[in-house]
Amino acid sequence: MPKPILLVTRKLPEAIEARASRDYDARLNPQDEPWSTDGAEIARRATAAKADGILGAAGDQFNAACIKALPDSVKVIATFSVGFDHIDVEAAKARGIVVVNTPEVLSFATAECAFTLLLMAARRAVEGEALVRSGQWKGWAPTQLMGVTLEHKKLGILGFGRIGRELANMARGFRMEIHYRDMQRLPPDLEQGAIYHDNEDSFLSTIDMISMHVPGGAGTRHWLNAERLAKMKKGAIVINTGRGPSVDDAALIAALKSGHIRAAGLDVYDGEPKVDPGYLPLRNVALLPHLGSATIETRDAMGNRALENLDAVLLKGSAPPHRVA
Ligand code: DGY
Repeated sequence: MPKPILLVTRKLPEAIEARASRDYDARLNPQDEPWSTDGAEIARRATAAKADGILGAAGDQFNAACIKALPDSVKVIATFSVGFDHIDVEAAKARGIVVVNTPEVLSFATAECAFTLLLMAARRAVEGEALVRSGQWKGWAPTQLMGVTLEHKKLGILGFGRIGRELANMARGFRMEIHYRDMQRLPPDLEQGAIYHDNEDSFLSTIDMISMHVPGGAGTRHWLNAERLAKMKKGAIVINTGRGPSVDDAALIAALKSGHIRAAGLDVYDGEPKVDPGYLPLRNVALLPHLGSATIETRDAMGNRALENLDAVLLKGSAPPHRVA
């Protein structure tokens, strides 16, 4: 029996490419050559390869036009990400194409990234680093670059899913008080003492820092806008490691400039890899290039999870464990 053909859109960790090549007729992209960003090239290559499955990633555009243009041979699209806002799942469903993602294995790494940004923002790490690198540092001074501590602060977690709850665990070690907002209250074993807010106003006006963990899509677009920022305390901190479009950049930049928001830490951007140029001159914002899940351990785990799901559909004819459509 010939092996199923698997189109892999991006360069993946070595062990994952080796496993994919062992079990599939894998068409890899070892140089990570950039493909057109509109999804047309994915469809063209899948057609040329007569692919049975596609292993794609965040950043690939599996939009309606791409999915419509895929050959009938494609049975499954696996995304090397937990987020799947870059895939038109309704279009996939309409064509009977299974869509799978990689949940759970990246929760800790993404929470670590949020916590890194939280510390960078609170302790003015961007300014401190720039000062040392500039050669202008004159030495220790009692009032130099004073930030704020996390200890006893109220951390507001928007979206108390797996990543949000991992962040809460880390924050407890810093003696922070955890507040959260989600569609509904979670059971006590998941809350672990975190305080639920059933309305946005009490959440926003209570917290000292917000960390955003909401999915992309029309329902969350520009959720953090000027009106909601104004409801936050003066001097609050904003962290986003979820999806860029959930923040209204113009509103956040204005709030960072006025000082209403003390500092921010961002790992994701609306229209990334483009970044709103208004952030670039600001020293009170830490900017990372979507590093959320970027640890060696996590990226291997994500690849293995994606392959487990592909194996179910393409090798075993069984239900994939992480099906989103
Ligand atoms: C995800 O998994 O959705 C991340 O944002 C990609 O690393």
